[in-house]
Amino acid sequence: MKNRVFILLFVLLGLIAVVFAQEDDSGDDDTINDNMPDSTDTEVAPSTPSTPSTPSTPATPTDDTTSTTPIESDTPSSTSSETPIASSQPTVPVNKTVNPLVCTALHKLYTSLNGNNWIVRTGWDSTDMNTCCTWYNVHCNSIGQVLKVVLAHNNLVGQLPDSFDQLPDLQTIDMSYNNISGSVPTSIGSLPRLKSINFDVNLLSGSLPSGLSAPVNLTTIGTIPDSWASMRSIESIYLSNNNLTGPFPNIITQFVTVKSLYLDNNAFNGFLPSNLGDASALVQLNLKDNHLLGNIPSSIGNITGLQSLIMSHQMLNGTIPDEVFNILGLQVLDLSNNRFTGPISPKLGQLVNVQKLNLGHNGLTGPIPNEIGQLTKLQSLNLNYNALNGQFPSTLAPAALGYCYMTPNQFQSCPGPEVVNNPESLAFQCSVDCIVKTKTKGAASHLDSPLSALFLIIMATLITM
Ligand SMILES: *[C@@H]1O[C@H](CO)[C@@H](O)[C@H](O)[C@H]1NC(C)=O
Ligand SMILES: *[C@@H]1O[C@H](CO)[C@@H](O)[C@H](O)[C@H]1NC(C)=O
Ligand SMILES: *[C@@H]1O[C@H](CO)[C@@H](O)[C@H](O)[C@H]1NC(C)=O
Ligand SMILES: *[C@@H]1O[C@H](CO)[C@@H](O)[C@H](O)[C@H]1NC(C)=O
Ligand SMILES: *[C@@H]1O[C@H](CO)[C@@H](O)[C@H](O)[C@H]1NC(C)=O
Ligand SMILES: *[C@@H]1O[C@H](CO)[C@@H](O)[C@H](O)[C@H]1NC(C)=O
Repeated sequence: MKNRVFILLFVLLGLIAVVFAQEDDSGDDDTINDNMPDSTDTEVAPSTPSTPSTPSTPATPTDDTTSTTPIESDTPSSTSSETPIASSQPTVPVNKTVNPLVCTALHKLYTSLNGNNWIVRTGWDSTDMNTCCTWYNVHCNSIGQVLKVVLAHNNLVGQLPDSFDQLPDLQTIDMSYNNISGSVPTSIGSLPRLKSINFDVNLLSGSLPSGLSAPVNLTTIGTIPDSWASMRSIESIYLSNNNLTGPFPNIITQFVTVKSLYLDNNAFNGFLPSNLGDASALVQLNLKDNHLLGNIPSSIGNITGLQSLIMSHQMLNGTIPDEVFNILGLQVLDLSNNRFTGPISPKLGQLVNVQKLNLGHNGLTGPIPNEIGQLTKLQSLNLNYNALNGQFPSTLAPAALGYCYMTPNQFQSCPGPEVVNNPESLAFQCSVDCIVKTKTKGAASHLDSPLSALFLIIMATLITM
């Protein structure tokens, strides 16, 4: 009788341990996903990851690859809430009579993309080809030039017409979150003032255009065409979540004006160009979830204004180049789910602005440099699923840290009990677990792997036998 109670108790304990281990696991997948900013904003949205009050609750912000990114891209929401015309300058007399060729080109979008089924289509079904500045989400300046067309989340289905050359003043196109298929028409390459293109989350495939200003090059299938480099004023390119394939579009190294480049969730393969750093105006670079191989080129350090660098979920390898740690303005660094090896450079401590750091799911070795204590703005820290070893740092946790995953790794020793039991220490907040256990109770003694759970169960059974 007594024995049974014991067995039950121990099995229960084992189960709890398994649950713990799995909870730990659940955190591994949340790659830091910076929020896609709107086209003009160059800042990394400092999205605070939940409340930092509770140390290391593994349930916190699981921002998932699919759900987060574009919700914040304020294009759809903010622009749809502002009335198309009026807002800009109500006091200045305006001429919103538009060149009918322009309205006709817009109307072609309507007919080609199944306008009858658009969610909002106010004005678009009009036959008056002078008043398209009043159509839903067509934004003009005071002299009737069409500057911006925003048709995100509007149930657009079909292929884009090749009539963008009739919209010469266009600066911003946002047709994200629709079912646009086929390729991006050639005429987009000819727009001289284009600053932002957003075709995020569509069914685009095949080849993107070579612009009219450059020879049409059909050898570049499904990648960014060379001619785009000649669009001198372009600042943002969002081509996330499409099915773009082929070698990494090296042409981006010539995009000297581009500040935001989102190519995440595509199928680009091959190596990063060694002169990646030539794209020196970049502030946000997101290459997550492609099929890239090889090293991060050291020229990355030339992109000195970079605030967000996301290259997770592919097959990048080698050591993380020191040059990454020279980018002092970095706020988001996510190199997780790759095959990086070697140590984490102590130069990590230079990234004093970093808020989200994710190097999890790699093959990193060596100790965590003590310099990690200099990262005082850290909110989210992920180094789990590596082979980090040595002594875990005894530094205090950054005040804003709300989210930390450190296991599994291979730390041989933890700091002493005075550190491990101090709720303000990094070791405490990250629930770090060392192979050589310190004999202390407290948060640091979480079980971290299914293996240790199994061990416990076996022990339990043995004892009760
Ligand atoms: C307004 O602009 C249109 C097209 O640019 C032009 O044809 C028209 O004459 C202008 N009207 C006035 C009153 O300026
Ligand atoms: C858009 O494409 C998705 C995925 O192919 C499909 O499930 C959905 O029904 C399509 N929507 C429309 C309006 O065609
Ligand atoms: C197409 O691009 C390749 C690689 O950039 C280049 O070698 C070739 O000359 C181009 N062909 C044409 C017709 O522009
Ligand atoms: C992506 O492209 C590949 C190769 O062209 C094709 O086999 C695959 O079906 C495409 N996937 C989607 C979701 O369109
Ligand atoms: C860019 O990086 C490369 C490789 O690190 C370096 O040789 C070159 O001098 C750098 N260029 C500038 C302008 O800093
Ligand atoms: C990195 O990957 C490339 C391509 O797969 C391979 O050729 C190279 O040997 C790898 N380097 C290291 C250090 O693993």
